[in-house]
Amino acid sequence: MRLITNLVLGVSAAVVLAGCKAGGDNQGLEYAPNMYHSVAYEPLTQITDQKAGWYFNSLDARPGEFYNSNPYNAYRMNMRLPAPHTVRRNAQGWLPYRGVNDSTGLRLANKLVNPFEASPAVLDQGKVLFETYCKHCHGAKAGGDGKVAQGVKIDGVDHSMYPGVANLKGDAYKNITEGHIFHVITYGKGLMGSHGSQVSEEDRWKIAKYVKELQKN
Ligand code: HEC
Repeated sequence: MRLITNLVLGVSAAVVLAGCKAGGDNQGLEYAPNMYHSVAYEPLTQITDQKAGWYFNSLDARPGEFYNSNPYNAYRMNMRLPAPHTVRRNAQGWLPYRGVNDSTGLRLANKLVNPFEASPAVLDQGKVLFETYCKHCHGAKAGGDGKVAQGVKIDGVDHSMYPGVANLKGDAYKNITEGHIFHVITYGKGLMGSHGSQVSEEDRWKIAKYVKELQKN
């Protein structure tokens, strides 16, 4: 019996002591960790009520536990305003598209050059994107015959769901440039709404490449 008790004690002690190992990033048990690790400001949260989460207690002569704003920034913002005239660039380092949403902007868009080559990878991605954002109206082959464009027939009467969807394989559109397609996706045109907020610039260019490819066949 004694042997078993000793064994159990010994093994337990070994297990407990093994947990005390320190080294590398693990420096073992830390006493009062908030003395070493400052609490980060939450960039997208701002609670200016200093008493939020404040409990009456002799230790509470300081902002409450939910108070989260930075007294050193303007308006106590946690995030700083960017420097004046700062321009956002995307992951590719591109500046935002500045073509204007009018007929002149559309004409000038013809001069834009697609930054992507028609590589198999780009066309594959363009296909996935086209099928996500365009196919339901324009159809899988861009023939203007997507489900939304075709509408439904009830008792022999056609109920068009979305009128006037362009057949991008038709003569009227055969020679549109990739820049034109990019511009149309960005702002929409006529009956087609803008897709600029849903589809990134990079993806718009890939779709434009794929539309030109569809038009070839
Ligand atoms: C809700 C249906 C709908 C969706 C989704 C849609 N389109 Fe359209 N698209 C239209 C309609 C309708 C027109 C005809 C606009 C007009 O002439 O008034 C059109 C026209 C166009 C044109 C020709 C514009 C011109 O020069 O006259 C292009 C190019 C085009 N769409 C590309 C796209 C691409 C690429 C996508 C996917 C990102 C897309 N569309 C998504 C409905 C849609």
